[in-house]
Amino acid sequence: MDLKKFITVVPNYPKEGIQFKDITTLMDNGQAYKYATDQIVEYANKQQIDLVVGPEARGFIIGCPVAYALEVGFAPVRKEGKLPRDVIRVDYGLEYGKDVLTIHKDAIKPGQRVLITDDLLATGGTIEATIKLVESLGGVVAGIAFLIELTYLEGRSKLEGYDVLTLMKY
Ligand code: PRP
Repeated sequence: MDLKKFITVVPNYPKEGIQFKDITTLMDNGQAYKYATDQIVEYANKQQIDLVVGPEARGFIIGCPVAYALEVGFAPVRKEGKLPRDVIRVDYGLEYGKDVLTIHKDAIKPGQRVLITDDLLATGGTIEATIKLVESLGGVVAGIAFLIELTYLEGRSKLEGYDVLTLMKY
């Protein structure tokens, strides 16, 4: 299936010069959403995953159905102030801004093999921060899966040494 057919490119959103890749037109097509999820599940099956971790909000959309299919748990990475119990935090740079990501301290057991999911690899800042959180808790990043990679932003350079799957490249 040509998944790119289901992505809507929105010019100048959220600001001038950005060609926003809208995944909602993929998600609202049941067959396309299932096909994309199945591709990631097939990849994850080879990595012997114990837990899926994804950053809010779109990392949840990709990661939760994968966790369900794998019959493993899902741990959310959230922006500051959103998780109710003890967290660890990391500052990170965004494609258009700066922010803080957090995860519950007890979300990962040392040695657990983690699949990280997100919709999009842009500068790689979000995923680099997510990797730091996972590894700080003793998790092993066994795979990282995205729907989309914006190759011209070179986010891959932050992921050297990790096993990365991207379903579409722009
Ligand atoms: C977007 C996207 C990725 C991240 C990619 O999320 O969903 O998580 O940016 O950019 P990067 O590789 O340059 O870090 P955003 O922070 O807009 O949050 P949202 O999913 O909650 O909208």
